[in-house]
Amino acid sequence: MGGCGGRIDLTIQSFIILERQIKRMEEEVVIDYIKESKLSVKSAVEKMQTMEIMEKTFDSESNDIALYLAMSKRAEEEGEKEIAAYLFNIAMDEASHAAQFAALLGMVKDTRTNLLNMLAGEIQAEKDKSDASEVAFGEGNDEAFKFFEKSMKDETRHKEGIKKILSKLQAKD
Ligand SMILES: [Fe+2]
Ligand SMILES: [Fe+2]
Repeated sequence: MGGCGGRIDLTIQSFIILERQIKRMEEEVVIDYIKESKLSVKSAVEKMQTMEIMEKTFDSESNDIALYLAMSKRAEEEGEKEIAAYLFNIAMDEASHAAQFAALLGMVKDTRTNLLNMLAGEIQAEKDKSDASEVAFGEGNDEAFKFFEKSMKDETRHKEGIKKILSKLQAKD
Protein backbone atom coordinates (compact mmCIF):
# COMPACT_ATOMS: atom_id res chain seq x y z
CA MET A 1 0.00 0.00 0.00
CA GLY A 2 3.11 2.22 0.27
CA GLY A 3 3.09 2.93 -3.46
CA CYS A 4 -0.54 3.94 -3.28
CA GLY A 5 0.22 6.42 -0.46
CA GLY A 6 3.02 7.93 -2.54
CA ARG A 7 0.63 8.40 -5.42
CA ILE A 8 -1.87 10.21 -3.20
CA ASP A 9 0.90 12.50 -1.89
CA LEU A 10 1.91 13.25 -5.46
CA THR A 11 -1.68 14.06 -6.38
CA ILE A 12 -2.08 16.41 -3.41
CA GLN A 13 1.29 18.00 -4.27
CA SER A 14 0.30 18.64 -7.88
CA PHE A 15 -3.10 19.88 -6.75
CA ILE A 16 -1.42 22.46 -4.47
CA ILE A 17 0.91 23.53 -7.30
CA LEU A 18 -2.04 23.81 -9.68
CA GLU A 19 -4.01 25.84 -7.15
CA ARG A 20 -1.08 28.24 -6.72
CA GLN A 21 -0.74 28.58 -10.50
CA ILE A 22 -4.45 29.35 -10.86
CA LYS A 23 -4.25 31.93 -8.05
CA ARG A 24 -1.27 33.60 -9.73
CA MET A 25 -3.11 33.61 -13.08
CA GLU A 26 -6.19 35.12 -11.45
CA GLU A 27 -4.07 37.83 -9.84
CA GLU A 28 -2.49 38.59 -13.20
CA VAL A 29 -5.92 38.87 -14.81
CA VAL A 30 -7.01 41.35 -12.12
CA ILE A 31 -3.83 43.42 -12.50
CA ASP A 32 -4.19 43.47 -16.31
CA TYR A 33 -7.82 44.49 -15.99
CA ILE A 34 -6.96 47.37 -13.64
CA LYS A 35 -4.19 48.56 -16.00
CA GLU A 36 -6.37 48.30 -19.12
CA SER A 37 -9.53 49.80 -17.68
CA LYS A 38 -7.62 52.61 -15.93
CA LEU A 39 -10.13 52.27 -13.08
CA SER A 40 -9.26 52.65 -9.42
CA VAL A 41 -8.44 49.36 -7.71
CA LYS A 42 -11.71 49.56 -5.74
CA SER A 43 -14.01 50.09 -8.74
CA ALA A 44 -12.06 47.57 -10.85
CA VAL A 45 -12.54 44.93 -8.16
CA GLU A 46 -16.26 45.78 -7.91
CA LYS A 47 -16.66 45.51 -11.69
CA MET A 48 -14.86 42.17 -11.67
CA GLN A 49 -17.19 40.93 -8.95
CA THR A 50 -20.18 41.80 -11.14
CA MET A 51 -18.56 39.94 -14.06
CA GLU A 52 -17.92 36.95 -11.84
CA ILE A 53 -21.51 36.91 -10.60
CA MET A 54 -22.78 37.23 -14.16
CA GLU A 55 -20.60 34.29 -15.23
CA LYS A 56 -22.04 32.16 -12.43
CA THR A 57 -25.56 33.35 -13.29
CA PHE A 58 -25.01 32.44 -16.95
CA ASP A 59 -23.97 28.93 -15.89
CA SER A 60 -26.91 28.41 -13.55
CA GLU A 61 -29.44 29.81 -16.06
CA SER A 62 -27.96 27.48 -18.70
CA ASN A 63 -28.28 24.49 -16.37
CA ASP A 64 -31.89 25.44 -15.65
CA ILE A 65 -32.78 25.43 -19.36
CA ALA A 66 -31.71 21.80 -19.66
CA LEU A 67 -33.38 20.77 -16.40
CA TYR A 68 -36.71 22.44 -17.20
CA LEU A 69 -36.71 20.94 -20.70
CA ALA A 70 -36.02 17.45 -19.30
CA MET A 71 -38.72 17.92 -16.65
CA SER A 72 -41.17 19.22 -19.24
CA LYS A 73 -40.54 16.09 -21.31
CA ARG A 74 -41.15 13.96 -18.24
CA ALA A 75 -44.43 15.74 -17.44
CA GLU A 76 -45.47 15.16 -21.07
CA GLU A 77 -44.75 11.43 -20.70
CA GLU A 78 -46.87 11.41 -17.52
CA GLY A 79 -49.74 12.90 -19.55
CA GLU A 80 -49.51 16.27 -17.73
CA LYS A 81 -49.73 18.41 -20.84
CA GLU A 82 -50.45 21.71 -19.08
CA ILE A 83 -47.57 21.27 -16.61
CA ALA A 84 -45.30 20.22 -19.51
CA ALA A 85 -46.20 23.41 -21.39
CA TYR A 86 -45.61 25.55 -18.30
CA LEU A 87 -42.19 23.96 -17.62
CA PHE A 88 -41.30 24.46 -21.28
CA ASN A 89 -42.19 28.16 -20.99
CA ILE A 90 -39.97 28.53 -17.93
CA ALA A 91 -37.13 26.85 -19.88
CA MET A 92 -37.55 29.48 -22.62
CA ASP A 93 -37.48 32.28 -20.00
CA GLU A 94 -34.26 30.88 -18.56
CA ALA A 95 -32.86 30.67 -22.11
CA SER A 96 -33.57 34.35 -22.65
CA HIS A 97 -31.97 35.22 -19.28
CA ALA A 98 -28.88 33.17 -20.19
CA ALA A 99 -28.74 34.81 -23.64
CA GLN A 100 -28.86 38.28 -22.11
CA PHE A 101 -26.04 37.44 -19.68
CA ALA A 102 -24.00 35.96 -22.55
CA ALA A 103 -24.35 39.30 -24.35
CA LEU A 104 -23.48 41.32 -21.21
CA LEU A 105 -20.41 39.13 -20.66
CA GLY A 106 -19.16 39.94 -24.17
CA MET A 107 -19.56 36.37 -25.39
CA VAL A 108 -21.43 37.52 -28.50
CA LYS A 109 -19.39 39.12 -31.30
CA ASP A 110 -20.16 39.84 -34.96
CA THR A 111 -21.79 36.93 -36.82
CA ARG A 112 -18.69 35.77 -38.65
CA THR A 113 -16.64 35.69 -35.43
CA ASN A 114 -19.51 33.98 -33.58
CA LEU A 115 -19.68 31.27 -36.26
CA LEU A 116 -15.92 30.76 -36.22
CA ASN A 117 -15.94 30.46 -32.42
CA MET A 118 -18.83 28.04 -32.45
CA LEU A 119 -17.24 25.99 -35.25
CA ALA A 120 -14.24 25.45 -33.00
CA GLY A 121 -16.63 24.50 -30.19
CA GLU A 122 -18.56 22.03 -32.35
CA ILE A 123 -15.34 20.38 -33.56
CA GLN A 124 -14.29 19.98 -29.91
CA ALA A 125 -17.77 18.77 -28.88
CA GLU A 126 -17.73 16.16 -31.65
CA LYS A 127 -14.36 14.86 -30.46
CA ASP A 128 -15.42 14.95 -26.79
CA LYS A 129 -18.57 12.95 -27.58
CA SER A 130 -16.55 10.41 -29.53
CA ASP A 131 -14.13 9.98 -26.60
CA ALA A 132 -17.03 9.83 -24.13
CA SER A 133 -18.85 7.18 -26.17
CA GLU A 134 -15.75 4.98 -25.99
CA VAL A 135 -15.56 5.42 -22.21
CA ALA A 136 -19.28 4.61 -21.83
CA PHE A 137 -18.88 1.57 -24.11
CA GLY A 138 -15.88 0.38 -22.07
CA GLU A 139 -17.86 0.71 -18.85
CA GLY A 140 -20.84 -1.12 -20.36
CA ASN A 141 -23.16 1.88 -19.99
CA ASP A 142 -25.19 1.10 -23.09
CA GLU A 143 -27.71 3.94 -22.73
CA ALA A 144 -24.99 6.57 -22.29
CA PHE A 145 -22.98 5.03 -25.16
CA LYS A 146 -25.97 5.23 -27.52
CA PHE A 147 -26.76 8.80 -26.56
CA PHE A 148 -23.14 9.94 -26.88
CA GLU A 149 -23.13 8.39 -30.38
CA LYS A 150 -26.40 10.09 -31.30
CA SER A 151 -25.40 13.49 -29.95
CA MET A 152 -21.99 13.17 -31.63
CA LYS A 153 -23.84 12.95 -34.96
CA ASP A 154 -25.77 16.12 -34.01
CA GLU A 155 -22.46 17.89 -33.31
CA THR A 156 -21.16 16.72 -36.71
CA ARG A 157 -24.30 18.15 -38.32
CA HIS A 158 -23.85 21.45 -36.45
CA LYS A 159 -20.20 21.58 -37.56
CA GLU A 160 -21.07 20.94 -41.21
CA GLY A 161 -23.94 23.45 -41.13
CA ILE A 162 -21.76 26.22 -39.69
CA LYS A 163 -19.02 25.44 -42.23
CA LYS A 164 -21.54 25.82 -45.06
CA ILE A 165 -22.78 29.18 -43.76
CA LEU A 166 -19.19 30.41 -43.35
CA SER A 167 -18.28 29.49 -46.92
CA LYS A 168 -21.43 31.24 -48.18
CA LEU A 169 -20.39 34.36 -46.23
CA GLN A 170 -16.91 34.06 -47.73
CA ALA A 171 -18.37 33.90 -51.25
CA LYS A 172 -20.25 37.16 -50.58
CA ASP A 173 -16.97 39.07 -50.11
FE1 LIG B 1 -33.68 32.73 -14.72
FE1 LIG C 1 -23.54 21.38 -31.05
